[in-house]
Amino acid sequence: MKKILSFVVVAVLALSLAACGNSGAPAQGEGSAAGEGTSKETLVMATNGAFPPYEYYDGDVMVGIDVEMAQAVADKLGMELQIEDMDFGAIIAAVQSGKADMGVAGMTVTEERLENVNFSDSYATGIQVVIVKEGSDIATIDDLEGKMIGVQESTTGHIYCADTPENGGYGEENVTAYTTGANAVEALKTGKVDCVVIDNEPAKAFVAANEGLKILETEFAVEDYAIAIAKDNTELVEKVNKALAELKADGTLDAIVAKYIPAE
Ligand code: ARG
Repeated sequence: MKKILSFVVVAVLALSLAACGNSGAPAQGEGSAAGEGTSKETLVMATNGAFPPYEYYDGDVMVGIDVEMAQAVADKLGMELQIEDMDFGAIIAAVQSGKADMGVAGMTVTEERLENVNFSDSYATGIQVVIVKEGSDIATIDDLEGKMIGVQESTTGHIYCADTPENGGYGEENVTAYTTGANAVEALKTGKVDCVVIDNEPAKAFVAANEGLKILETEFAVEDYAIAIAKDNTELVEKVNKALAELKADGTLDAIVAKYIPAE
């Protein structure tokens, strides 16, 4: 049912884009990244469904930019998308062990992660930002020293903040990690932490859903999001990159993003 629905959404978007005379052409080669030679029928996506607007629950259905993008990639590969929800920190291991074919979770490309997995081409930019309570004495990131920082466990926000001051961090003792960003935001509301460092789009969603919070204007770090794939599965990396290039060229990816991040 979900597959049919998202297909309808993509088809409608494609039609309306075509109607605007903006149908575009595939970036590379003809046709789609076909699924010939694929031994598996299912394309297993590991994610952490607590990261709006990339992946989150609408009732019991996981929705979001990553979910629809992964569905569109699976369609191009002629595969059935299967979503496995897990802690963010478990995704890389799931991809490495083959439990999942790909990690799609607003995941930032980092040198450290590249030692363990491959990444597709980037499909979005993420920015680490700081959420504080309205009226907080934290005005810029220079005021974070000595404060308690809430983060989502194993995310880049966690890794950067827990690093030593010499490396631009604030020290482990000043960081509290929570399983989800929402839990970190809850801790901010109840005063257990003084701020939360998290990606900008989820930050906007959390601030919109909770009263009395704001996002600082100074940004912490600018990052690229990409799909994580096992080191030895270069075939899938190529197929995913081809599919992504097509989805970028024909406006599908932009349309998915626009659906979840309305222009301000
Ligand atoms: N971009 C950050 C990172 O890669 C956070 C991603 C968190 N994603 C999620 N689905 N919870 O570490």
